[in-house]
Amino acid sequence: MGKPQLRGDYSRAGSDYSVEQDWGRYTAEEHALYRRLYERQAKLVPQYACPEWIGAIATLDAAGGIPQFDVVSVLLRQSTGWEIVAVPGLIPDDAFFGHLANRRFPVTVWLRKPEEFDYIVEPDVFHDFFGHVPLLFDPVYADHLHEYGKGGLKAMRLDAVKMLARLYWYTIEFGLMNTPYGVRAYGAGLLSSGGELAYCVDDPRPQRLPFDLERIMRTDYQIDRYQDRYFVIDSFDQLMRGTAPDFTPIYAHIKSSAPPAATTPTRGA
Ligand code: PHE
Ligand code: FE
Repeated sequence: MGKPQLRGDYSRAGSDYSVEQDWGRYTAEEHALYRRLYERQAKLVPQYACPEWIGAIATLDAAGGIPQFDVVSVLLRQSTGWEIVAVPGLIPDDAFFGHLANRRFPVTVWLRKPEEFDYIVEPDVFHDFFGHVPLLFDPVYADHLHEYGKGGLKAMRLDAVKMLARLYWYTIEFGLMNTPYGVRAYGAGLLSSGGELAYCVDDPRPQRLPFDLERIMRTDYQIDRYQDRYFVIDSFDQLMRGTAPDFTPIYAHIKSSAPPAATTPTRGA
């Protein structure tokens, strides 16, 4: 795994890294902390989240505490054929892509500590659930993420995971979208962030560039501070169309022209 500081309990994980959510084990304090995180974001999302995310969260009864994944999975299966799979934390690329390629979204079971209210390095259940799960109800987004998973398994064979991970970073985690209400966030890392959600839309400092697949695949990212640049899509349809071509020649082209770059973690919150 190469990430010795991972903090989840991996000892009970299956070969696909799935675990039981064991919902009954969450304490009242954990549910209360989740509610506080939820309430902070709930004040921001009407102004900063994309309409697809806002529409979906309304149908989920997710405000009262840490959700039961099984209950939400029933709704997801009916809606777009996705389900949630509980995992102990970050998982290896092959397991991660394999789940997405089978329309299973891995959600971390543990919640951050109270002192991590504003900032956390690894994804926890709040980031994974609040940020990622609502958009799985959008049919186009849902299909795109499925294609991404299959593309991930392919990128592993082509030794191109780093380039594909940048696509994930600048779309699924930190993507912005043009909407009738102006620029809005659809990236999960933004939607679950107390500070960056307003920053990514309102602050004049970061660059907001139109979606550009090859540029994204060439652009390194920072995982420990607000982003210097965001890429803006016009719709999930555009994202779907823009990522539909075979990436094989694009990977080859970038590899043949890019200087060797420093290693970057492939995923993050
Ligand atoms: N089109 C990509 C490929 O050929 C697969 C992919 C689809 C990747 C959607 C990301 C998102 O590798
Ligand atoms: Fe994430």
